[in-house]
Amino acid sequence: MCGIVGIISSKEVSSRIINSLKKLEYRGYDSAGIATLVNGNINEVKCEGRVDVLEQDISKFNLKGDIGIGHVRWATHGKPSKVNAHPHSSDEVSVVHNGIIENSTILKKLLEKKGYTFKSQTDTEVIAHLVTDYLKKNSLKDAIIKVLKKLHGSFALGIIFKKQNNLIVGARRGSPLAVGYGPNENYLGSDSYALKSMTNKISYLDDGEFCFVKKDQIEFFNSDGSKINKKVMNLSKDEVNYDKGDYKYFMEKEIDEQPTTINACINEYVDKLNNQINIYNFPWKISSFKSAMLIGCGTAFHSCLIAKYWMEQNTNLEVSVDIASEFRYRKIKFKKDCIYIFVSQSGETADTYAALDLCKKNKVKTCAVVNVIESSIARDADLVLPIYCGQEIGVASTKAFIGQMLVLYILSTKISFDQKCIDRKEYQSKIKNLLCLSTSAKKTLKQDQKILNIGKVFAEAKGSMFLGRGFSFPIALEGALKLKELAYVHAEGYPAGEMKHGPLALIEEGMPVVVLAPRDEHYKKTISNMQEVIARGAKVLLITNKNKDEIISENIWEKIEVDQLDDELIPFLITIPLQKLAFYSALEKGYDIDKPRNLAKSVTVE
Ligand code: G6P
Repeated sequence: MCGIVGIISSKEVSSRIINSLKKLEYRGYDSAGIATLVNGNINEVKCEGRVDVLEQDISKFNLKGDIGIGHVRWATHGKPSKVNAHPHSSDEVSVVHNGIIENSTILKKLLEKKGYTFKSQTDTEVIAHLVTDYLKKNSLKDAIIKVLKKLHGSFALGIIFKKQNNLIVGARRGSPLAVGYGPNENYLGSDSYALKSMTNKISYLDDGEFCFVKKDQIEFFNSDGSKINKKVMNLSKDEVNYDKGDYKYFMEKEIDEQPTTINACINEYVDKLNNQINIYNFPWKISSFKSAMLIGCGTAFHSCLIAKYWMEQNTNLEVSVDIASEFRYRKIKFKKDCIYIFVSQSGETADTYAALDLCKKNKVKTCAVVNVIESSIARDADLVLPIYCGQEIGVASTKAFIGQMLVLYILSTKISFDQKCIDRKEYQSKIKNLLCLSTSAKKTLKQDQKILNIGKVFAEAKGSMFLGRGFSFPIALEGALKLKELAYVHAEGYPAGEMKHGPLALIEEGMPVVVLAPRDEHYKKTISNMQEVIARGAKVLLITNKNKDEIISENIWEKIEVDQLDDELIPFLITIPLQKLAFYSALEKGYDIDKPRNLAKSVTVE
């Protein structure tokens, strides 16, 4: 989703702004732009499409300047086009914005009455004119305070001023914003990743704060304009060089990395010597909880769903799950004896963050399961459980999903032992099984060629269905989501037992249907549901685990078998062929696998 960058230096900045924008590309975007200040003039270069195009345009214009801002836009107000691309400039200022200004229509009308004219259809352009208007009668700082108070909605802003060659203003409400400290230069960015090639010294703005980024210092203010101090964090440098290696796509690499990321995560939480799970810094007594509420969006929501099955099965907790964009608007009865768990790869998803904020305001216990440990959600939750899978660049989440499930499974197992729902023998046997997961995941990855051919059929399908029961139901939802995201094929994930209550009417001759039927307690029932769709003409891809009993059915189109592991761990393994299926279907169609159309990696608007 939108990303912003700002650099103030004594050297030219445009090429470095471009580099930082390239780092933000993973978030998903449709247009890009840059503005620099040169001798009291703001020069803008914008384009529809990729940062590469912007880079070529900039070299034609020979864009100079040692103060500048840049932006990658994911359209919300107004279609993707050059004129709607940021920065948006007035006679006085130029603005980049991530977020949505909800009262932009009213503000625009007021500004038009005052004689301001608008070039774009964006909500952002009002900010440029509003700042200009307030600057007429106020100091720069007072103008900013007043403008921020006028804006409803969410924003991370970067603003440069024609008459002010010594600062960039940054401001945050809702959308994330980091500042970076460099040698005689300083930076602004939507995330630390955008700034990592320049610095590992970062501070984060909190909601309502703004800052003046100058060459030699950064001043921070709260919403009333009082000066505040911010903590400077030293980030690790290990992710700076994350690249595709020998792979053509990040997603393909990220799927193949899963055996390694599984091990990395297990190593952080499992003490192999003593055969126990360690969650350090757990700030509460496990016995103080009666319930758990898991909240997330997209793929993260699916990992919450599967955790519900594990926690219900293994612990005494009453477990509920919600989509963050629903949770935040429900009339929740907050409970002191509930643990509210927020699952988010990026740690920046606007709805998930707002749901966490709501919990914080209601003073309940919060836990974040995140990949980005410097993220807003990680910073604000009481307890952070990282998933340790390394940077994920592909917009469609893969290794982070496995990582989220893994941490939730580990947490569930720890709670079940501490609550004495399982004895030491069972606890240690679960840990022992967990240690086999990476090897089995590696074996599952080897079925590539087969899935490539299956993918060709799914790529051409009008629609498809993914069915499962129990642990396999959330995985069916995730498999369908992956196919929609990447191959743009309509796909529905459904509980296999619900088919005859409606969706069976959709089945027609040749429709590809994935049936997830591991040899667990639901196996026989799912196989019956499979027969029902086969009888109506479906082409069934059966995903199951190896077992000595052969499956008796002559009409299965294709079959993929994963290793036989503990039933609770099979969801990890059957996820992998579904990720590959979506990947190969998209590859067949020649789609942009790492950046599917209309989607964003970090969804920072509601
Ligand atoms: C976007 C991404 C998904 C992701 C979801 C939640 O939709 O494309 O892959 O699952 O956001 O993101 P989060 O960072 O909160 O896990």
